Amino acid sequence: MVYLINGVKSGIPGLDKLFKSNEFPKGRQILLMGPPGSGKTVFGIQFLINGAIHSEEPGIFITFDDLPRHIREDMKSFGWNLKQLEVDFDPPLLTMVDGFSARVGLTTDEQYTIRANLDSLLMVLTEILEETGATRVCIDSLSTLSTIIKDPVQVRKEILTMGAILGEQGCTTLLTAEHGEWGVEEYSSQGIIRLSYDELPSGEFRRAILIQKMRGCEHEFGWREFRLTKDGIKIFPDRTVGRGHLK
Ligand SMILES: Nc1ncnc2c1ncn2[C@@H]1O[C@H](COP(=O)(O)OP(=O)(O)OP(=O)(O)O)[C@@H](O)[C@H]1O
Ligand SMILES: [Mg+2]
Repeated sequence: MVYLINGVKSGIPGLDKLFKSNEFPKGRQILLMGPPGSGKTVFGIQFLINGAIHSEEPGIFITFDDLPRHIREDMKSFGWNLKQLEVDFDPPLLTMVDGFSARVGLTTDEQYTIRANLDSLLMVLTEILEETGATRVCIDSLSTLSTIIKDPVQVRKEILTMGAILGEQGCTTLLTAEHGEWGVEEYSSQGIIRLSYDELPSGEFRRAILIQKMRGCEHEFGWREFRLTKDGIKIFPDRTVGRGHLK
């Protein structure tokens, strides 16, 4: 069997098993959707740091939702030292971009910042791509971007442009979002991964992940259990969750 889409190790335990090729598609723009607290930011960071450490793929994390220093702090609870990847390597294995401070009127001493328009996002991205050779990018989140750029036509256009630039560079890009934003999923994403949770009859909750769409790939199609452990996200590819499967 020949798989036309190049693959990589995602770095998220269990995730690659959801794909027939046993690899995560490379160079694609993928929407990562889920409600607050479903694990989008953790997923994005884990994807970047494990790509950097285990697959020599430098990453870029663009945060619109929170301060970079809060993310660095929060991720320590999983034993992940983001700062080390940012400063101990040349070029850096991880680059953080602050899209939060300017939006809320804070000053920042971060090296890379995004002001209030998406043009500067493209400029900053291109600059970092050149400097670091990054091949993984996470933009967290599209939902917050929608508060910055209100014109849906412009957003679609910019996201398509960004997708084209990143795709050209062979970058695998995760765009996090709470809901379908501006029809972006129909227009530009080559894949959609959903994170969610289910309540069991016992009242317990289970976290669940679904590969809803992945162009050019054969993949499992159904909700599977995942857990947020002290080591990050762990997916159980054989544990089906959802209606008819509640235990
Ligand atoms: N060290 C840890 N061990 C296990 N679970 C944790 C740990 N730290 C955080 N969590 C869980 O991860 C959740 C946060 O996940 P995350 O921030 O990735 O969600 P999100 O989808 O990005 O949410 P939002 O939409 O609010 O940004 C917390 O609500 C908590 O349940
Ligand atoms: Mg988040």
